[in-house]
Amino acid sequence: MSTAGYRVQPGGVLGGELTVPGDKSISHRALMLGAIARGDTEITGFLSGEDCLATLRALQSLGVGIERPAESHVIVHGVGLEGLRGAAGPLDMGNAGTAMRLFMGLLSGCAFDSTLLGDSSLMRRPMERVAKPLRQMGASIDTREGLPPVVLRSGPRLEAIDYRLPVASAQVKSAVLLAGLRAKGITRVTEPAPARDHTERMLRAFGAPLRKEGPTVAIEGGHSLQGMRIQVPADFSSAAFFLVAGCLGAERELVLRNVGINPTRTGLLQLLVQMGADIRVSRCPSEGGESAEPIADIAVRRSELRGIRVAGPVVALSIDEFPAFFIAAACASGETLVQDAGELRVKETDRLAVMAAGLTTLGVENRLQGDGLWIRGGSGFTGGIVDSQGDHRIAMAFAIAALRARNPIEIRDVANVGTSFPAFEQTARTAGLRIEAS
Ligand code: S3P
Repeated sequence: MSTAGYRVQPGGVLGGELTVPGDKSISHRALMLGAIARGDTEITGFLSGEDCLATLRALQSLGVGIERPAESHVIVHGVGLEGLRGAAGPLDMGNAGTAMRLFMGLLSGCAFDSTLLGDSSLMRRPMERVAKPLRQMGASIDTREGLPPVVLRSGPRLEAIDYRLPVASAQVKSAVLLAGLRAKGITRVTEPAPARDHTERMLRAFGAPLRKEGPTVAIEGGHSLQGMRIQVPADFSSAAFFLVAGCLGAERELVLRNVGINPTRTGLLQLLVQMGADIRVSRCPSEGGESAEPIADIAVRRSELRGIRVAGPVVALSIDEFPAFFIAAACASGETLVQDAGELRVKETDRLAVMAAGLTTLGVENRLQGDGLWIRGGSGFTGGIVDSQGDHRIAMAFAIAALRARNPIEIRDVANVGTSFPAFEQTARTAGLRIEAS
C-alpha cells in the first residue's frame, strides 16, 4: 500500500510521455469471466491494484487456479460456469464496490452460500440496488438494511427477467447480466442512459450469446464461455488526472499512451474540449470488431479553460472523473455548474461533499446544490491541508491542484490510491508534479 499523505509543492511544469496502469473495470471483468470460462484466459496489462487483487484472491478462494508470471500478467485457469466452489470463509472485497456488486451477480444461483464484506467505506455503500433485481430472478440475498455484509444462499435455478435500471449503473447492469448467464431463458436489461459497456463487450468476446437492441441488452442463459487473450488498455480514469494536469501545466505536450477510449468512459474529453482544452486523440489500431476496447494516445497542452454547465447523460459517461473535473472547473474562468450527479454521493465517499469541503479549504468559492456542485473558478488555490477521507480519486485530484496553488497542498489519508493507481506518486513526479510522501 501507499503512504499516509502527500505534500505537493506549488507550481511545476508538465510534459513528456506517460503510460498509466491498466483499466480497473476491465481487469475485474477479465478475471471474473476468465474464471467461469472453459480453458485458460491470459490477461496482459492487468491492473495490479488493491481492488483487482481483492477480486483475484476471492476467485482463488472459490477454487479458481490463477498464476501471475508478472505483476500485470495473469493466467486464469477457467473452471466453467458450474465449476466455482464455496469459499471456506467470507470473501473480502476491500474498498472495491465493483468487485462486491459483480460478485453478487456471479455468485447468485450457485450451489453454495457466500458472504461478501469489505472495508469501512464499502460497508456503507448501497447494495440493495443489485440485490433487488437478483431476488426477482430467484436469488436468496440478505443485506444489513441494504448495506454489506451481503449473504447469498444457494437456491433453485435462476429465472430470466426483463429489468429496467432505475439509475444508469454499469455495476447493476453487469450483475444482472452475470446472473443471466446461469438463468433459464433470456435476461434483458434496459438502461435509462448509457453506462460503461465493458461487460457486454467482453461477454461477446468470450462467446456469450448477447444482443443489443437500443438501450436493452439481452443474454440467453446456459451457454458456456471460452477462455481467451485479453490486453487491458491503460485506464482512462487514471489518465484523467494527467489530462486535467496537462491542461493546467503542460508547457510541452504531455502524451498519454494506449489509453482506453471506450465512448461510454470518455465524457471527460467532451467536457474538457467544451471548456477550451487543447487535446489531441490519435486512435491506435485495434482488432476485435464491436467487442474490442478502442485505444488511443492522447496529447494535451496547457490551455485557458472556461467554466461550463454539465447535466444529463454525459454525467454517467464521466462519473469517476468528477474529482479531477472539479479541479479543472476551479481553474477555469467563470462559473461551472454540475447537475444530475447524485450518484457521486454513493461512491467510495460522498464525492460531492468531500470535494466541496476540500475546495473550500483551498479558497475556492463553491456551493452544493441538490444533486450537484457550483464552482466559481479562476482564482487558483491558496494551498493548505485537505482530507481525502480515504478516497483514491479525491487524493489524486487534490495532488494535481498544486499546479495552480500559491502554497503547498497536503493531502491526508492517501493509502487507498493503491486501489487504482499504485505508482501514482512516482508517475506524477515523472510528469513534473512536485509531489512527495508526507
Ligand atoms: C464501475 C461502474 C461505475 C463506476 C465504478 C466502476 C464498473 O459505478 O463508478 O468506479 O466497473 O462497473 P456505478 O455502476 O455504480 O455507476
